Amino acid sequence: MTTEPDIKKGLAGVVVDYTAISKVNPETNSLLYRGYPVQELAATQPFEAVAYLLWHGELPDEVQLAQLRTLERSYRHLPADVRAVIDRVPIDAHPMDEVRTAASLIGARDLAGMGSVLDASGSAEENLARSIRLFAVLPAIVAYGQRRRRGLDPIEPRDDLDYAANFLWMTFGDVPEDVVVDAFNRSMILYAEHSFNASTFTARVIASTLSDLYSAVVGAIGALKGPLHGGANEAVLHIFDEIGDASNVVPWLDEALAHKRKIMGFGHRVYKRGDSRVPTMKAALDTLVEHYGRQEVAELYDKLESEFVSRKGIYPNLDYPSGPAYNLMGFDTPTFTPLFVAARVTGWTAHIMEQLASNALIRPLSAYNGPDERHVEGYVPDEAMAAVAARAEEAAD
Ligand code: CMC
Repeated sequence: MTTEPDIKKGLAGVVVDYTAISKVNPETNSLLYRGYPVQELAATQPFEAVAYLLWHGELPDEVQLAQLRTLERSYRHLPADVRAVIDRVPIDAHPMDEVRTAASLIGARDLAGMGSVLDASGSAEENLARSIRLFAVLPAIVAYGQRRRRGLDPIEPRDDLDYAANFLWMTFGDVPEDVVVDAFNRSMILYAEHSFNASTFTARVIASTLSDLYSAVVGAIGALKGPLHGGANEAVLHIFDEIGDASNVVPWLDEALAHKRKIMGFGHRVYKRGDSRVPTMKAALDTLVEHYGRQEVAELYDKLESEFVSRKGIYPNLDYPSGPAYNLMGFDTPTFTPLFVAARVTGWTAHIMEQLASNALIRPLSAYNGPDERHVEGYVPDEAMAAVAARAEEAAD
């Protein structure tokens, strides 16, 4: 008698490995990065310090932070050949395709001359250096992507600005008020890390084959693009655009639910009673609404949330407040998921290094439910193959 395999579709509920990088606790609705509650980090730290924390396990002291900032500043420029390749990506391709392509080229440039795939996975020191380079250059790639679509040239980075302010400078050509820089910094911190989510797991699977860090990040970018994952922040804005204003929420939702549409920005595989990151991002959105005098955005946000939660009991995730927040800051909707890449690259690379420090090839099993064994018409096995078949038959008996 054959027993039915215990299949965990989507790996739901499966614990694959330990991680010391973050803890998602749906019971207490909390998220810890290396033990620190994420809302405390968002309220007190620059994004560079959180990147350091994820990579090293401790917050940096002043000297360590200054050293990381010096390195980050030295890799901020968009290299001319990377710009040239971005320029060859069709202007109407999705910016995630552009970011994925640019990240791939950055990896190929960095690993050029490596003779054998046996050296690809690199030492811990090499991988930390690669992580810092990617972290530093991604803002230039994302910022240029938005500018290119608006027919504008890239803007050179400014050495007198920290990561968040410089990112906004390279995108818009000015540095907005502190309230905007602060909201952007918070969003980067909230997006940085979230345990074994789909893109991080993708990165760990690729790293587990002893491929290189860049390949793992490129794969992760592909996973993040999907609307069930990072693409949801962009999708939220499309929904807001469809609805228009708060007075249209009820009929819009009636229609959407009648057609069994998924409402992007709501629901989560792990959190079932609300996403721990939402209150911090919603507070940042509120400051932006106030700053820009855009009360109608908050009205639409609140109305859709209260209607959907009361009808379905499904709560907003981080993409729900971050989508409208990025819109208010001036980012174009297709740029939202690339912003998520720039933030999450810190978590991905921390996980890649953790995976390599205690590696086991990730290779699950599957249960076959295809056709029974059959044979190609006219095939006559030679002697060696006949012996193999006979042994297989013997083993099956
Ligand atoms: N709108 C409508 N129905 C939903 C939604 C939603 N946003 N989310 C879940 N449901 C329903 C779903 O239709 C299903 O109903 P039924 O049992 O009647 O078929 C039930 O709730 C369970 O949903 P599921 O998709 O099987 O649950 P899951 O744990 O696999 O889903 C999810 C998690 C994030 C894929 C899902 O909630 C979803 O598709 N949400 C919309 C996309 C989204 O906002 N993604 C961002 C996730 S958080 C940020 C990130 O990690 O990138």
